[in-house]
Amino acid sequence: MNAVSRRKFFKSILVLLTVPFTWLAYLNSKQTSENAVSSKITILYDAIPMGISFHDKFIAVKDQTSIKFFSAKCSHLGCTIKNNIGDELICPCHGSRFDIIGNVLNGPAQKPLQQLNFKKNKSEITVYGL
Ligand code: FES
Repeated sequence: MNAVSRRKFFKSILVLLTVPFTWLAYLNSKQTSENAVSSKITILYDAIPMGISFHDKFIAVKDQTSIKFFSAKCSHLGCTIKNNIGDELICPCHGSRFDIIGNVLNGPAQKPLQQLNFKKNKSEITVYGL
């Protein structure tokens, strides 16, 4: 193999290696933008009951004067929290407990639950960051 054909050979290899990575990067960016679109949900304010309620990806805590939303994803390893005992949110996987403002009461979780932003518009409420 002379120097020119060796150069061509390595260029071809480089092109062959670049194509799949470019394709993967494209698919990843497409998936990321789809996730961004689906990262919010709009629901009727009145459909959220008073107290603690579990809504698939988020937890709502509502009283007469305020409402808060938290990710239902446990801050330990990401299990979905969907139960409470009194005012404590209980993770089913390893038993972490959180208070109604998302603070850790009992580990193994070390971080609070992620509080989610929301916007209230008349009778609807949109929760972001799901
Ligand atoms: S995932 Fe919730 S305590 Fe481990």
